[in-house]
Amino acid sequence: MATIFEPYRIKTVEPIYITTKEDRERSLKDVGFNPFLLRANQVTIDLLTDSGNGAMSCHQWGAIMTGDESYAGAESFYKFESTVRKITGFPLILPVHQGRAAESILFDCLLGNADIAFSNGFFDTTRAHVEKNKVKAVDINDAEGAADFKGNIDCTKLDEILSNNDQKVGVVVMTITNNVKGGCPVSLDNIRKAAIICRKYKVPFYADACRFAENAWFIKTREEGYGKKTPAEIAIEMFTEFDGCIMSAKKDGIANIGGFLATRDKDLFEKCSHRCILNEGFITYGGLSGRDMEAIAVGLTEALDEMYLQHRIEMIKEFGRMLEARGVHILEPGGHAVFVDAAKTLSHLPRHEYPGWTLICALYIEGGIRSGEVGNIMFGYRDPGGKEIFPTRDLVRLAIPRRVYTLSHLRYVADIFGKIVEKKNDIKGMAIVKSSSYLRHFTIIMKPI
Ligand code: F0G
Repeated sequence: MATIFEPYRIKTVEPIYITTKEDRERSLKDVGFNPFLLRANQVTIDLLTDSGNGAMSCHQWGAIMTGDESYAGAESFYKFESTVRKITGFPLILPVHQGRAAESILFDCLLGNADIAFSNGFFDTTRAHVEKNKVKAVDINDAEGAADFKGNIDCTKLDEILSNNDQKVGVVVMTITNNVKGGCPVSLDNIRKAAIICRKYKVPFYADACRFAENAWFIKTREEGYGKKTPAEIAIEMFTEFDGCIMSAKKDGIANIGGFLATRDKDLFEKCSHRCILNEGFITYGGLSGRDMEAIAVGLTEALDEMYLQHRIEMIKEFGRMLEARGVHILEPGGHAVFVDAAKTLSHLPRHEYPGWTLICALYIEGGIRSGEVGNIMFGYRDPGGKEIFPTRDLVRLAIPRRVYTLSHLRYVADIFGKIVEKKNDIKGMAIVKSSSYLRHFTIIMKPI
């Protein structure tokens, strides 16, 4: 196969911070062994998230200079609105400062007296905004159904639940790609089937679309009948099935901040507009500056470029192969990250010694790499008797910012993993020193055993 290379050349470079092992040992100890609390300049390769940290193109920076900062009716808004309309087909669009603002506005206006909401995988802020309305948020993922689309929703279960349910279902949210399920994609077939079920039972069907372009690429390359279509054509086909979407432009908008809410429902849009004015700002800026909207309009279009998507997905796959070759246990690479099975990779550690958290600390100490634990600390909790209850999996997410790191950076990360695997029996587990009762991973204090 021909070499797949970065479909861009680099005009501006940003230094990365090189530290010594002694620096890192001291820094990590100073923040209570919680890499979230490190300063960015203590980190060499930052794979904590793919959100808001993409590299903008010269076209985005150029557009930023044309930003219209008028309070109302800014030209930049109309450019943003027409791009979002073109890409999604939704007529009614509200800009917001980031994805969770769209979640907050949409669910407060939509859920009313609902009891329950379903998803193929609620992201944590999305779940929290549903639950804030005293609505139960339930995942019905179909990981076993289609090997190529492990992000799918379980349509059989959805139909069964909606037909028998005596509870009021407020919304079905399809997260594309499915971040909490390894960043795996959702097929168009699955989106269509779920849409038919939602229409049958008159339940609003919304997309959490922050990685829609990556999802479109997986459909193009894996689903029969889409090979000749462009990602943009596939995106429109996806969005056609939904009543609307919420979007964090910090991912496939390749912007540092921003997002939007889009819908076909005029009454709902009116309600959402009022909420937007109250919390975000007037409906033609929603908490964004004109230059942010310019950057998003260009970024959304660039994210659908075939060469860009092919390179990004292939690079992440290659990263997965490099890790496996060094004895690291991974889940199938998704669109924005590789998830490492920490429990298997550090199999000498029992669950209550937090292999995932131990691995993120080891990655930092060995190589200055920051990653995110998605396991015993993030999803575990203490029951009223003080016993730790653990989720099924203890994972570490290596999220890849867009257009930021090259394959050599990722090879360096894989080599650090190789070192850790080689001497894993010397790596001791960790214990909790102090933690809050919710979202504890952000502020937890740990110690090595
Ligand atoms: N939905 C999904 C699927 C997400 O992955 C995120 C953010 C959001 C909504 C919220 O968007 O951050 O703009 O408010 N995910 C980031 C991550 C933070 O690291 O996965 P936001």
